[in-house]
This record gives sequence, structure tokens and C-alpha cells, in this order.
Amino acid sequence: MQVKITGKTKVTGIFGYPVGHSLSPAMHNAAFKSLGLDYCYLPFPVRPEHLHEAVKAIRALSLRGVNVTVPHKEKVIPLLDETDEEASFIGAVNTIVNTNGKLAGYNTDGRGFMRSLSEKGISPSDKDILVIGAGGASRAISYYLCKRSRSVTIYNRTVKRAKKLARDLNKLYKNVSAQESFPNIQEFHIIINATSLGLKKEDPAPFDTSMLKRTQIVYDLIYKKTRLIKEASRMGCKALDGSGMLLWQGMLAFELWTGRKPPREIMSKALRSTHQ
Ligand code: ATR
Repeated sequence: MQVKITGKTKVTGIFGYPVGHSLSPAMHNAAFKSLGLDYCYLPFPVRPEHLHEAVKAIRALSLRGVNVTVPHKEKVIPLLDETDEEASFIGAVNTIVNTNGKLAGYNTDGRGFMRSLSEKGISPSDKDILVIGAGGASRAISYYLCKRSRSVTIYNRTVKRAKKLARDLNKLYKNVSAQESFPNIQEFHIIINATSLGLKKEDPAPFDTSMLKRTQIVYDLIYKKTRLIKEASRMGCKALDGSGMLLWQGMLAFELWTGRKPPREIMSKALRSTHQ
């Protein structure tokens, strides 16, 4: 998928290290092309020690904006001119917008997750939700889930981290609790894996899936058919992988840079064809 470069092309891209595996260039360039927008999206492998210079280069080179991924999502915050409420709470930025040299940081992960739920016809209201994990991904989704659901329970291998997240969320909402031991899975309507367990092929599911009921919804934020997804499907549950969240966080970033409605089908197709 080649985009046409002109003297006026607005440049966007992704800062990460490594970035070689990123599916975002294919997704965004396909979207720019399909709408005839004079934009392009490039991978920028930014070593940790060069992050400061790379952020300055957004202004110096008049980039329109960038996505930010591992390992820069947290460290980039103090280098920006402003950060929105969501990104400040999460403590991580995944999208930067450059408006005449002023750099604003956003985090589109949580909103992307919620949009992926709603497009599947799933509403968290009146539901009890279990979030497994208390890292960056968990913070991003829990921030929205506790706003919209009846209750959110957080379980994490490191209990201290789950308690800290629950404490932070309860300053905003009052429906969050942290569990010290793994809770009874059957008490929840929606169960979400927000840990990195499942990234490796040999990883086990994060809990005993034989306890699942077919009325339960299982969402794995990992963009793969993990063991959890396979086992939950086998148990008759509605099982969602991280592809919807990946797509929607990208669509929201696209909208921030271009002000245009992102072409969902084009972006989804580009993701699927790149991720073989
Ligand atoms: P991300 O930004 O993707 O959320 P992170 O902030 O490093 O990444 O968080 C990773 C999450 O996966 C954490 O909740 C981590 O648990 P700990 O806080 O106990 O480290 C969880 N995790 C990683 N490997 C795990 C494993 N083998 N078993 C259970 N949880 C695991």
C-alpha cells in the first residue's frame, strides 16, 4: 500500500523501540489513501535515550502527530505541553497531536476499548466486571469501565498494584474493589484479561476456564487467539480478542490528526491482512 508523497504531505507515525512489528503503518496509510488525504504514517524506531530529541523533532520537523508505544508511553508525558484527563490518570500517552508546535498527549486505548464493546452490542451498565491485571492496559480500560458499569473488581498477581489502582479509581467512582486472591469467576458478567499472559504461545489461560458459564463474556486485550479466547469459546462464551481495541484506538488517533471520520472497514481490513 503506497501513499503518494507531495510537498504538502502531513507526516504522522509511531515512536517505539522496537517498532518493526507494528500494524499501525498499514492501518493508517490505508485509511489516508482511501479518503484521498495528503498524509503519511511512518515507523520511527526511537531508542530510549533519544526520546527527548525525538519529541523535539515533532516540532522541528512539523510532524502532524505520532503514536507512542513501548517503551515510551509513560516517559513521554513530561516532554509534552499538555496531556488530557484520561492520559493523565492512566499515566501513559499513546497519541500526540502537534498543533502549531504545541504538543498535546492523549490516550485512546480506554475509549477504543469501550467503542469495541459497544459495536459488539455489549453494554457494561448493570454489569459486574472482573479485570485481571493492574498495569497500563488495565488502568486505561478500568478508568472507563468504572464510569459505566455496576462494579469493577481488579485482581492482579502483585496485590499492591491492584490496590493502588482501585484506590485511584475510587477517588473518581465508588464501585471498584481489589481482590487479594483470585475471585469466584462465576460472579461476573464480563471477565477481561489485561495482563500480558497469553502473549507467548505457551502461556496458560489466566484462570481455570472450566468454571465459565456460557452467558459470560470474556475479553482478552491481547491481539491474538490466545488460549483464554480458545477455551472461552469452547465453553460457549462470547469471546473477544484485542483486535477491536487495536482498531478503535487507531481510529480515534486518526480522527485526532485529521478531523475526519475514520474509514472503519478499510482500517480493519488493513489490520487483518497485515496480521497473518
Ligand atoms: P501493559 O501496559 O501491557 O498493561 P504492564 O504495565 O507491564 O503492561 O502490565 C502487565 C500486567 O500483566 C501486570 O498486571 C502484570 O502483573 P504484575 O503487576 O504482577 O507484574 C501482568 N502479568 C505479566 N506477566 C504475568 C504472569 N505471568 N502472570 C500473571 N500476570 C502477569
